[in-house]
Amino acid sequence: MTSTISHVFPLGSRVNEQGRLEIGGCDAVELAREFGTPAYVVAEDDIRARARAFLEALSARHEDFDVLFASKAFPCTAVYRLLAEEGLACDVASGGELFLALRGGFDPARIYFHGNAKSTAELREALETGVGHIVIDSLHELDRLERVAAELGRRQEVLIRITPGVAGDTHHAISTGQTDSKFGFAPVDARVAIERLSGAPHLKLVGLHFHIGSQLLSLDPFRAAVRTLAGLGKFPVYNVGGGLGVAYLASDRPPAIEDYVDAVVSTVHAELGRDVRLLLEPGRALVANSAVTLYTVQTVKRNVSTWVAVDGGMSDNLRPMLYGSRYEALIADRASPGDGGELCRIAGKHCESGDVVVREAFLADPVPGEVIATPVTGAYGYSLANNYNGVPRPPVVFCRDGEARVVVRRETYGDLAGRDVG
Ligand code: LLP
Repeated sequence: MTSTISHVFPLGSRVNEQGRLEIGGCDAVELAREFGTPAYVVAEDDIRARARAFLEALSARHEDFDVLFASKAFPCTAVYRLLAEEGLACDVASGGELFLALRGGFDPARIYFHGNAKSTAELREALETGVGHIVIDSLHELDRLERVAAELGRRQEVLIRITPGVAGDTHHAISTGQTDSKFGFAPVDARVAIERLSGAPHLKLVGLHFHIGSQLLSLDPFRAAVRTLAGLGKFPVYNVGGGLGVAYLASDRPPAIEDYVDAVVSTVHAELGRDVRLLLEPGRALVANSAVTLYTVQTVKRNVSTWVAVDGGMSDNLRPMLYGSRYEALIADRASPGDGGELCRIAGKHCESGDVVVREAFLADPVPGEVIATPVTGAYGYSLANNYNGVPRPPVVFCRDGEARVVVRRETYGDLAGRDVG
């Protein structure tokens, strides 16, 4: 008998005839044996489906648009390649992300370069590779970019990042739209930048951008932010950032992609007009739910709590430590829902008490050697990974129609010393 599992798992996940978790048609326990743990396991079709959902929702409502992959969410070559294939454009926020986006096959003309502290070297790299748009974040950057563009004899198209004074209801570390922010220009300061750009021979201002925050579960802040743009004059291009939240827990009910797009487009039509070029810039909503992380249980200890210690932790998922993010977990070997279980804390292997990946997981008597799967690790898992305690970073395994392939190999001990030259 097969059964479905929580909607937070990648699309197409199920419990197979052996009672095990299956991702992209692949048995998770077999994946753990073949590729080792921890491992990020990605259902390729899940990312494709979400990319198409954005494109279809937009094309049904608005004529001139692009969907940009906010690549900080999952910056590995295979993900860039997949989303370039799906027809998306790309947001990069550093020279390194630019390098990866180009390697993944993005047309430089469809790359948008963001960041609040871009260096002159990064600006030069962007212009030399033909990046389509730079999103200017400060007056210092404006001056620097004008100089670099002059040096290279270019007229560079730019957007200005606006901080609309709208705070989304999210963790303070990932709220970016409030007035007291390191990002962008307050509307009053934006006027100065607009004025300055009108006299900059090597820069061409084509539009405005905002990004108000991440993991937003209400659509009102997006509507409010669009309204603030209207007061700054009419531009051909508007980039309304990313930020749409996703479900981490089965009880989470984020807005559907279509409802989000509908809210943004209808506000843009009402406030800015139908004839503008509209850019959306999702990261998390494209990739978060596409992946699970597989771990192997190492020890189980019962004192005040039940501690299930696994072979990864804050080196592969820093989000619980940075934002108090909550996750679910199940035993992939016995994935059938509804078998109750004991309240467990899934702890990592790192030398800190705060290294707890899942605070509350109900697991039925987990034992060493069993495989634990934590869903929703496709966004900001791989990109925030680190080598704390000399732990090599996990591989990324793509699964589709029962076939699995490694797209990022596991780090080796040699990699850990690979940059040491003394
Ligand atoms: N555009 C810009 C300019 C951004 O800074 C971001 C995210 C996005 C788009 C995409 O936002 P999304 O659709 O993924 O919410 N490490 C944090 C998230 C930081 C987001 C930073 N900027 C986390 O793990 O929750």
